[in-house]
Amino acid sequence: MTTALIERFRNRLPVSTETPVVSLGEGSTPLLSASRLAQAAGVRELWLKWEASNPTGSYKDRGMTVAVSKALEQGAEAVLCASTGNTAASAAAYAARAGLPALVLTPEGAVSGAKLAQTRMLGATVLEVQGSFDETLRAAQELADRGRHVLVNSLNPNRREGQKTAVFEIVDEVGEAPDAFVLPYGGGGNTSSYAQALGELGLRTPIVSVEATDRRATLATAIRIGRPVHAASVREAGARVLAVTDEEVVAAWRTLAEEEGLFCEPSSAAGLAALAHAELEPGSTVVCVLTGHGLKDTDAVDVLTPGTTLVEPTVEAILAEVRR
Ligand code: F0G
Repeated sequence: MTTALIERFRNRLPVSTETPVVSLGEGSTPLLSASRLAQAAGVRELWLKWEASNPTGSYKDRGMTVAVSKALEQGAEAVLCASTGNTAASAAAYAARAGLPALVLTPEGAVSGAKLAQTRMLGATVLEVQGSFDETLRAAQELADRGRHVLVNSLNPNRREGQKTAVFEIVDEVGEAPDAFVLPYGGGGNTSSYAQALGELGLRTPIVSVEATDRRATLATAIRIGRPVHAASVREAGARVLAVTDEEVVAAWRTLAEEEGLFCEPSSAAGLAALAHAELEPGSTVVCVLTGHGLKDTDAVDVLTPGTTLVEPTVEAILAEVRR
């Protein structure tokens, strides 16, 4: 039987035997070695943590299982989030599993169609807010302060507790701490979670957090966040913040798909895109976290790749196209 993340890491999470476990079989995701990419990046070993294999297709599920289980334990009536799409889908799924209503606020026109479809299908009420992600989050916080909804953004400490577990899995599997963790930087909740995990393990592994050069307009809509709410903890954690252009993200995104068979969403490729600037030691072991699935953002694919070609159902017609 699949082990719930809360069961696997029970002794490291703020849960008790009283906590109702709301799980969809999250965590325990693959850690894949990528030797050709390691060579290209000039490091000894590169591991890719494939978080897309979580139940709703992103790492958010690690935090959501803890946040929604605790919300249920505390007698919540409903959950609420502001989201660029992945938190939305995850909140909707775990709320459905818990039998709680979910209210999702998204910034107008800035969330991929697939993420909205996923969230709607999972039964959440979705409201598109006429404003940026930052304004949407502020509205969500104010609504949560009124007391009826539990906010399940990463400002909720239970979310960060759950997200810590990726580090435990990686260290467990690699057998020692890697020399660096590289991950995308949107609001900074995940960077804070990784730093918290490292602190608990007594490790000082550097974290490289990668943001978009143009935070407000990047094609990687998952991390299209003007002002990261966790900026202070990212600084305190000593994370090294690097910025990558959309062109660099797209190139890394294609490389992961075409050379490794890993179709992630654009934001997830930010880490690999930054390796070229990271000046890592040639002998180092690096873990890049691929945070979300490519099927979550087919809008981005449509912009970048040519469509399909229509052919008659004959071998001649097919070969005529293939030979081109
Ligand atoms: N990668 C993906 C796929 C994301 O969806 C996000 C954030 C990040 C990276 C950045 O992580 O915010 O912890 O620094 N998505 C949020 C959302 C904002 O609403 O789904 P962060």
